Amino acid sequence: MDFNDILMDIKPERHEEEKIQSLSKIMINYINELAQEKGINALAILVGSVAKGTWLSGKADIDIFIHFPLETPLEELKVKGLFLGHQCIKKMKGTFEERYASHPYVTGHIQGYDVDFVPCYAIKTADDLKSAVDRTILHTEYINKHLQREQIDEVLLLKKFMEGIETYGSEFKVGGFAGYLCELLILEYGSFKEVLEASSSLWKSGFIIDLEDYGTGVRFTEPLVVVDPTDKNRNVAAALNIQKMSEFIVASRNFLQDPKTSYFYPLSCYCNNKDIEAVFEDRGTKTILIIFKPPKIPADAIYPQLKKTEQSLESKLNYDGFNVINCGSWTDESGIAIISLELDVWFLSKYKKHVGPKVFSRIHQERFLDKYNQQAWVENDQWVVNVERKHRTPESFLEDILTPENIHHLRIGKHLRKEILMDHKVMGINEFLKSDMCSNETLKFFFDFLNPGNHLHR
Ligand code: UTP
Ligand code: MN
Repeated sequence: MDFNDILMDIKPERHEEEKIQSLSKIMINYINELAQEKGINALAILVGSVAKGTWLSGKADIDIFIHFPLETPLEELKVKGLFLGHQCIKKMKGTFEERYASHPYVTGHIQGYDVDFVPCYAIKTADDLKSAVDRTILHTEYINKHLQREQIDEVLLLKKFMEGIETYGSEFKVGGFAGYLCELLILEYGSFKEVLEASSSLWKSGFIIDLEDYGTGVRFTEPLVVVDPTDKNRNVAAALNIQKMSEFIVASRNFLQDPKTSYFYPLSCYCNNKDIEAVFEDRGTKTILIIFKPPKIPADAIYPQLKKTEQSLESKLNYDGFNVINCGSWTDESGIAIISLELDVWFLSKYKKHVGPKVFSRIHQERFLDKYNQQAWVENDQWVVNVERKHRTPESFLEDILTPENIHHLRIGKHLRKEILMDHKVMGINEFLKSDMCSNETLKFFFDFLNPGNHLHR
């Protein structure tokens, strides 16, 4: 397969490159001059994919890191770093959002680009590390030193392929491959195709890649271990979960077997609510949604809480005798969050059989009969009794457990708990699809819910 057409599409053209480089230079110069003027001991530099030449056309986020000497107190670094970022955004007439990684940073929306201004410490080696973001400059240096010019195209192909099959991104929402991880995979295997071939036939859970032969890979427990060449104590693939690792392996095999250009582009989903409704109808299951407002916390904090809550609901429902065959969650991170539970058992008998003690213990029999009186009977050597269920439908179960008295039975993040208790709705899928909450994005979520893994083949 000829990758030239795809590269034409994803490789930044000369004018895009010039524009982004000159914009970055202007901002960096401005910050450095302002720092000098204000007597702030800090130095701004360009890092991330723009500094490495590995950004996908049209998708650049500019990463500007503002370095402070190691002896700077953390508080001062935060205050002065954010100050410089804000001033630069103001100067460039942009808008801003404050965000949090391991410590605060500010993102500016400037001339159509997202620009991250991240205060950090100027470390020379990983031994000086004070916060996770400090490594970034070492990463940038390492990639610029080791990645051959021709290999930039290979990185772009790998990133774009990963986007197409929805495994790109180390944020919790995805749990996939970071940009730096893609670069290291190209260094390890040489080319896009060789990465796919290696993942298809070599990778297994716990697989170790150790470019600098540090020998520290065995210390990590994550599904894929890529020892950071700039820090032997760091697994670059720490955020990659087993689901996304497996998806990448499967998609690689699919692609190698039948390579198609469409793998590099998002799968189009021509779904409307009528079609989705018809598929749910055909499955003969019952799908119940819990809808609430997402808490105002960073996206990386919302997704793990959402997943935890979804799994906890699934296991409680199953324990009570219902049967959840499929569950998922989605949020737009600001107005609405949805937990979706699909059941193939959703109406239960009035009574359930409850097994009591063996008949051989007189004292246990007495206690059991005190509680259940003459309704109990003996089966083989055991007392059994029919007890009335508390909930015969999942709706009744959910309304009861999502209350201040009972919510502690669920494993649920504290921010989510607060929002759910404040307000939530339990509704069937059909009602949702007819409501004004139904959007193209939620339709895509339900399409994926009904067709898991559809993005792994074309
Ligand atoms: P970015 O997420 O912006 O990555 O993080 P990137 O390499 O610039 O790639 P794209 O093109 O924007 O997607 C900036 C830097 O932060 C470090 C890396 O050094 C990266 O280059 N980083 C980020 C990690 O080491 N791990 C992560 O999970 C995320
Ligand atoms: Mn970036």
